[in-house]
Amino acid sequence: TYTPTPQDKFTFGLWTVGWQGRDPFGEATRPALDPVETVEKLAELGAYGVTFHDDDLIPFGSSDAEREAVVKRFRQALESTGMKVPMATTNLFTHPVFKDGAFTANDRDVRRYALRKTIRNIDLAVELGATTYVAWGGREGAESGAAKDVRGALDRMKEAFDLLAEYVTEQGYDLRFAIEPKPNEPRGDILLPTVGHALAFIERLERSELFGVNPEVGHEQMAGLNFPHGIAQALWADKLFHIDLNGQSGIKYDQDLRFGAGDLRSAFWLVDLLESAGYAGMRHFDFKPPRTEDFGGVWASAAGCMRNYLILKERSAAFRADPKVQQALLDSRLDQLAQPTADEAGLAGLLADKSAFEEFDVEAAAKRGMAFEQLDQLAMEHLLGA
Ligand code: GCO
Ligand code: MN
Ligand code: MN
Ligand code: MN
Repeated sequence: TYTPTPQDKFTFGLWTVGWQGRDPFGEATRPALDPVETVEKLAELGAYGVTFHDDDLIPFGSSDAEREAVVKRFRQALESTGMKVPMATTNLFTHPVFKDGAFTANDRDVRRYALRKTIRNIDLAVELGATTYVAWGGREGAESGAAKDVRGALDRMKEAFDLLAEYVTEQGYDLRFAIEPKPNEPRGDILLPTVGHALAFIERLERSELFGVNPEVGHEQMAGLNFPHGIAQALWADKLFHIDLNGQSGIKYDQDLRFGAGDLRSAFWLVDLLESAGYAGMRHFDFKPPRTEDFGGVWASAAGCMRNYLILKERSAAFRADPKVQQALLDSRLDQLAQPTADEAGLAGLLADKSAFEEFDVEAAAKRGMAFEQLDQLAMEHLLGA
């Protein structure tokens, strides 16, 4: 029952299992992975598809002929395995030209180049069937105060997204954008640091209906935030276009652990939320198998991401179906939260209702316990399989 199938919609970035283990202190510990081998291996493990940055698939600086050959081989692997490409994205952070960012680089020629690089990969993404295009502003940010005029940079960011939306609209592409927030790393501070910042920014875009978010578990946790709460607000705003699942232990560097590692309770509430909200999108893993691992460990880590999701999905379903939990939810008055605060008489009714204020027994209401501890203990026991 914990065996993934394509119906589970699990997807992986080529750069995840393909991470060679280079970090700021050490060289690669693994050789490069051939994207074709990645597609085949992930298909075998039960994944639905793969995603990529332009440069993950087509090495930076390839000639047109090389590019064509790579895409042809990749397409054949997709066809023979049935694997899909639901999302793609752009590498706007590895090459030194992007050291001060891409869409918000101070240098105008770098910004124009970044847009063209993105548009070129949008064409390929659509050709391969993608309907979501992720934008992670890896180096859109700064290390010092005067180096970045943040209001000006946000103008340039908006301009970039408005141009990209104009492009996909003109081309008639069925493609929406998902902005991925991150508070820091590799820049000291990154623009659009959290889900909330991104949601507010999106409302200022010319074609805001084409934009949503791609929140990553670890990134919100690096900012000390509650990930399921951020996801709930994105769902509430109809803006959860995509999601990056991984693991993180508290406020520290971006760990990109396999899904389920790190904050397990948060992972439980996340799966509970996605499943009970009927989230229909991809369950995309953006993790890095630690550099201690050989390829055996890499595939074990990828399989673990999917297996942990399915275990948590089962535990969440059992939690919701448990009559003791249903009683505990009533004891905690979740049913009342679901009721509008006003009645049919609206504001006038509220103002005329003496029981709402003049006759309200504040002291008695203050004495009521909320019974949340009982409810949370039941969740804990379901999670632990006690
Ligand atoms: C990170 C980021 C990246 C992006 C990916 C898409 O861990 O810092 O999540 O992995 O998701 O590069 O552009
Ligand atoms: Mn990350
Ligand atoms: Mn990510
Ligand atoms: Mn990542």
